[in-house]
Formats: sequence, C-alpha cells, structure tokens
Amino acid sequence: MAEASENGPSERVQSGAEASGSDIRYVQYKDENDLPIVMDLVDKELSEPYSIFTYRYFLHQWPHLCFISYDGDKPFGTVVCKMDTHRERMRGYVAMLVVDKAYRGKRVGSELVKMAIAEMIKGGCEEVVLEAEVVNTGALKLYQGLGFVRDKRLHRYYLNGVDAYRLKLLLPLSEARLAELAAAAEAEAAEADGEMIA
Ligand SMILES: CC(C)(COP(=O)(O)OP(=O)(O)OC[C@H]1O[C@@H](n2cnc3c(N)ncnc32)[C@H](O)[C@@H]1OP(=O)(O)O)[C@@H](O)C(=O)NCCC(=O)NCCS
Repeated sequence: MAEASENGPSERVQSGAEASGSDIRYVQYKDENDLPIVMDLVDKELSEPYSIFTYRYFLHQWPHLCFISYDGDKPFGTVVCKMDTHRERMRGYVAMLVVDKAYRGKRVGSELVKMAIAEMIKGGCEEVVLEAEVVNTGALKLYQGLGFVRDKRLHRYYLNGVDAYRLKLLLPLSEARLAELAAAAEAEAAEADGEMIA
C-alpha cells in the first residue's frame, strides 16, 4: 500500500508472500543522495552508460517519476521517467528500467513501472511511451502485461544497430482533462449556436 513518508516521497512495502521471503520496499526518489544509487543500478545493466547529465535531466525535473526497490537496505531495482507535453497532451515516458538479476521474475519491474504510471496519471498524462530493443523478450513481456501495445518499429534505433519497438499505453483521462475537454466542447457548441443565430 502506498503511503507518504515524513519527507514527502512515498514508500510501499511488498509482503514476503509476493516476494519470496524478503520484504521488498519501493521508495520514491528523494534527492541528490539517491542519484548514485540510481546510476549504479542502471550502469550495471547498460552496454552504453549514460552521462551524469542525462540522469540529472530526468531526476531533477521529475524526481516523483523515479522509484527505487530495496531488499532491506539493499537497492536492487529502479525506474526513471519523465512527462511533458506532446501535441497539446501530457505524455509520460519511461526512460530507464532495471532490476538486479538476483531479483528478476518477482514482478518488481512491473511494480516499479506501475508506480511511475500512477504518478503520471495524477499529473494528467493521457499516454505513456517508451522504446525497447526488439530482442528484449523480458522487457517486451513485462510491458505487454501492463497493457502496452507496439506502436512502430524504429530501424537501427540503438547505437549497437538493433531495432527498437516504440511501445504505447493509452491511459484513462484524468478528472482535470475530462473537465477541460467538456469545457472546450461547451465553448465550441456555444460558438456554433451564436453563428446559427447570426
Ligand atoms: C526487463 C526487466 C526490468 C524485468 O524485470 P522483472 O522484475 O524480472 O520483471 P517482472 O517480474 O515484473 O516480469 C513481468 C512479466 O515479464 C516476464 N518476463 C520478465 N523477464 C522475462 C524474460 N527474460 N523472459 C521471458 N519473460 C520474462 C515475467 O515472466 C512476467 O510475465 P508474467 O506476468 O506472465 O508472469 C529485467 O529483466 C531487467 O532489468 N533487464 C535488464 C534491463 C532492461 O532490459 N530494461 C528494460 C529496458 S526497455
């Protein structure tokens, strides 16, 4: 269950039943002290490590869209995302997702992504996108399980020459966006009425 800690970022504990004996905690990114944790986790898994500027770009602007999973005090997974306007709509983007090999297959990756998506929904996102290598069976299965669909194939998207799939998840509209669309429709109808009278 998500709960806010004293300092703001939320923390959630996954019970032993779900996580084969260990207590897994999910903690929202707090501040620059968490930066080396995220960098270590991601760098271990990547063939082409990101620069610190890339991490800061995401984590300074969207700290609430990053979560770290812990087994006790040991960090072992993370997700890093962003959200911004695309064609006048809010769109979320999953930039990085890793789970340490020893902890895979326990739904931690799925949980990290779901927590980030929950924040995106709160922020008014209408869709989420990401890229994954066409050969990354694990990631493709995970995202498919969360409802993502293949939007397009991007030829030689990665520096290693591998193609990517752009995956997309359409989200339910937030209350705020529904109200905005209703107001726009009302204004349009009023304008049409005015034109008919004139
Ligand atoms: C991809 C990754 C994050 C998955 O993490 P995870 O915690 O093991 O994933 P989950 O346990 O949530 O798995 C979700 C689903 O995907 C399936 N899955 C995960 N990895 C799989 C694999 N290698 N092969 C086949 N299926 C796999 C799971 O069985 C599960 O399916 P189910 O819902 O039918 O049981 C992890 O393997 C990883 O860190 N890989 C290296 C980095 C990476 O590729 N990141 C993604 C970049 S787009």
